[in-house]
Amino acid sequence: MVSYKKFVIALGLAAQVVMGQRPMNTSICDYYTTALLMNNTAENQMTLLTLIVNTAVIGNYTQPNVGIMDPGILASGQMQEGAPVDLLRYFNGSLMSTNVNGKAGTVNFLDDGGATPLMMNKPANTNSSAQYFLLTHLYQYFGALLGCSMQGTGGVFSGYQGDPSQYQIHKFMNLSKPEMDYFITQVGLSAASFGAATSDVEAVGMALNDTFNMRCSPPTVVIPAQGSQLQAICINPDCPLASGAVCAQYDMAATMSASMSGAIATGSMGSGTSGSAAAGSVPANGGTSAGSVVS
Ligand code: HEM
Ligand SMILES: *[C@@H]1O[C@H](CO)[C@@H](O)[C@H](O)[C@H]1NC(C)=O
Ligand SMILES: *[C@@H]1O[C@H](CO)[C@@H](O)[C@H](O)[C@H]1NC(C)=O
Ligand SMILES: *[C@@H]1O[C@H](CO)[C@@H](O)[C@H](O)[C@H]1NC(C)=O
Ligand SMILES: *[C@@H]1O[C@H](CO)[C@@H](O)[C@H](O)[C@H]1NC(C)=O
Ligand SMILES: *[C@@H]1O[C@H](CO)[C@@H](O)[C@H](O)[C@H]1NC(C)=O
Ligand SMILES: *[C@@H]1O[C@H](CO)[C@@H](O)[C@H](O)[C@H]1NC(C)=O
Ligand SMILES: *[C@@H]1O[C@H](CO)[C@@H](O)[C@H](O)[C@H]1NC(C)=O
Repeated sequence: MVSYKKFVIALGLAAQVVMGQRPMNTSICDYYTTALLMNNTAENQMTLLTLIVNTAVIGNYTQPNVGIMDPGILASGQMQEGAPVDLLRYFNGSLMSTNVNGKAGTVNFLDDGGATPLMMNKPANTNSSAQYFLLTHLYQYFGALLGCSMQGTGGVFSGYQGDPSQYQIHKFMNLSKPEMDYFITQVGLSAASFGAATSDVEAVGMALNDTFNMRCSPPTVVIPAQGSQLQAICINPDCPLASGAVCAQYDMAATMSASMSGAIATGSMGSGTSGSAAAGSVPANGGTSAGSVVS
């Protein structure tokens, strides 16, 4: 595990250094790992992704910060584009919104300490919970998106081990455009709260918009080892249609019954059980960091 104390000291020093312009030949991951944690190692890259993802999920919690507030994906009472947004219910096992072996089921993804271990720069209290697999998969996936050069090279920072199609993972959530935009905004605010340049924050937001936020988008490679996959998460009718849309390939969502999508879970079944998409996923054989979606 990453040393928490060591990190706090390193960030305390680096945060006082004014960051320069990121060179074209250096990925966002490599650049900010060096800027904040000095050595561009696999361990430090994993720490950077832990910080960015944990902050995006629970809101800014590290000290010092650069004065940018990030409420976090799980925050209640948020508004986006005039609509109330409450994403916590998709994570806490209160909806039938998880893809469990191709069917809508309930999974509590906050089953291993919730926010407490995240505030200690950890994914979870233990290492076999739904929370552990969700958080580590997010570190791995966003590490690939941000071009971490030391990821998946046999070191401490594995390539993405989660399910390959973001459409399949998220399809029973029937997420709306405001919900997607809120999530993407939190990722950007998290990066900004660590001092990322506005141009880099915008590049990440645009890449997430293009890859996941356009309805019926054609299959796209995100993790090279997983090949081309349906990646649209915004499949709700109010999401903008992608150019070259392939809606026929998204037919399961189109014909999905309303009772399956976002239906309130009844009883307490599933709480603490890890769904196939989170825990039993096919290990992607060492995802590579060869290509970054964000340039
Ligand atoms: C930019 C958009 C997004 C990206 C790139 C993204 C990425 C991911 C990834 C990589 C996983 C892990 C999958 C696995 O472990 O196999 C995941 C799971 C999950 N995401 Fe997202 N996500 C996005 C938007 C959202 C939004 C808007 C929500 C709304 C609440 C959401 C809710 C979830 C939930 C509940 C899970 C756990 C589902 C499961 O593992 O079965 N995601 N996401
Ligand atoms: C990026 O280019 C600069 C010269 O412009 C070079 O000094 C540096 O080593 C390059 N970095 C990488 C990671 O290739
Ligand atoms: C960076 O690496 C060098 C050489 O391995 C080491 O001496 C130094 O302590 C490291 N610095 C940090 C902040 O990890
Ligand atoms: C989050 O950031 C804001 C703005 O810098 C700050 O006022 C607040 O104290 C931070 N929250 C935590 C828990 O650090
Ligand atoms: C899950 O979150 C929702 C929305 O914030 C809340 O209303 C509900 O009580 C929570 N359920 C559980 C089981 O924590
Ligand atoms: C979880 O931790 C135990 C004990 O440290 C270790 O033996 C096991 O390999 C770990 N499992 C995973 C999935 O990391
Ligand atoms: C993402 O797309 C929406 C419109 O669909 C736009 O309002 C938003 O500014 C875009 N975000 C970024 C970071 O480009
Ligand atoms: C998805 O949500 C929209 C409203 O945001 C609703 O009109 C539509 O019927 C839902 N689709 C399914 C399959 O439940």
